[in-house]
Amino acid sequence: MRIRPMRTADIDAAERVTAQAFAPSPPREHTGSLDDTAAAPGQRPPLARQRWTARLAHFLSTDPDGAWVADAGDDIVGIAVAVRRDLLWILSSYAVAPGHQGRGIGKALLDAALAYGAGCLRGAVCALPDPRALRRYRQAGFTLHPTMRLVGVVDHDVVPDINGVRVGSQADLELVDSVDRQIRGATHRPDHGIMAGYGPLLVCDTLTGSGYTYLDRSGVGLLAATRRGVAQRLLWAALAQQPPGTEVIIRYLTADQEWAVDVGLAAGLRIEAEGFLALRHMRPPTPYVPSVPFG
Ligand SMILES: CC(C)(COP(=O)(O)OP(=O)(O)OC[C@H]1O[C@@H](n2cnc3c(N)ncnc32)[C@H](O)[C@@H]1OP(=O)(O)O)[C@@H](O)C(=O)NCCC(=O)NCCS
Repeated sequence: MRIRPMRTADIDAAERVTAQAFAPSPPREHTGSLDDTAAAPGQRPPLARQRWTARLAHFLSTDPDGAWVADAGDDIVGIAVAVRRDLLWILSSYAVAPGHQGRGIGKALLDAALAYGAGCLRGAVCALPDPRALRRYRQAGFTLHPTMRLVGVVDHDVVPDINGVRVGSQADLELVDSVDRQIRGATHRPDHGIMAGYGPLLVCDTLTGSGYTYLDRSGVGLLAATRRGVAQRLLWAALAQQPPGTEVIIRYLTADQEWAVDVGLAAGLRIEAEGFLALRHMRPPTPYVPSVPFG
């Protein structure tokens, strides 16, 4: 078994390993949206597979030294993909193939991915409630914050009229960066192109605060604001855009995000237990809805 840097040629094998490793976690898969729900155990539907591999190719271009594989000679049996955004380290994907788990491969992969974060002040992972993963993260010094998700069909009859929220563009990215720096201490600058491909950017910029959200097929892919009131306006605007009758999901909300929980409950969504936000040297950013792959 060899832990080595991931290459572009490994992308398809990496996709297969993660699809198999996440398969026992129905109904939602660990890559950020409903379209990643496995079609059959161990497989993603074609669109989800295409999105996952495109995202990994993106990370290999932005952070080629953050992606690692466990190479068993004839096959890839594990991966860890980390990115650095300013001084924030984010673990975007982490899996060992079933049948190879619990033998120390995950530790070796995580050590390699963590080494890529040397010099970063903070670290973040949207973690599944997998006991092996949680053991790894805690032993690596991460604090585990339990999280909720909001799930359900939006009751459009109760969605209020929202003023001051508009569709954003490239011209808003300075504003978005500024909000990110204030709220999580790091921008998403290299990732805007790919997130914009998932869904529109909504922006709210008022005299008293500003914020933004990226929609995706499942609802809200990412949201940050400098004030709770702005965050709530953005969340209502995001929910208003959901097609009637479709299920939305807003994930990885710690107890710090009651501003979001309150909007979700008012909109008719229900609370379910999610995984953990694993953070090192930082408190949960707030008001903030993290992106699972982009932090
Ligand atoms: C999380 C994962 C990548 C870790 O890889 P791994 O090769 O299994 O990890 P390791 O063998 O290095 O470490 C697992 C640890 O959990 C322990 N462990 C094994 N099975 C366990 C179980 N059922 N319950 C609790 N702990 C368990 C092991 O003893 C080991 O701890 P130790 O090193 O202190 O003895 C892998 O298990 C996996 O792919 N899980 C499913 C997908 C997933 O949850 N990915 C993480 C997304 S955030």
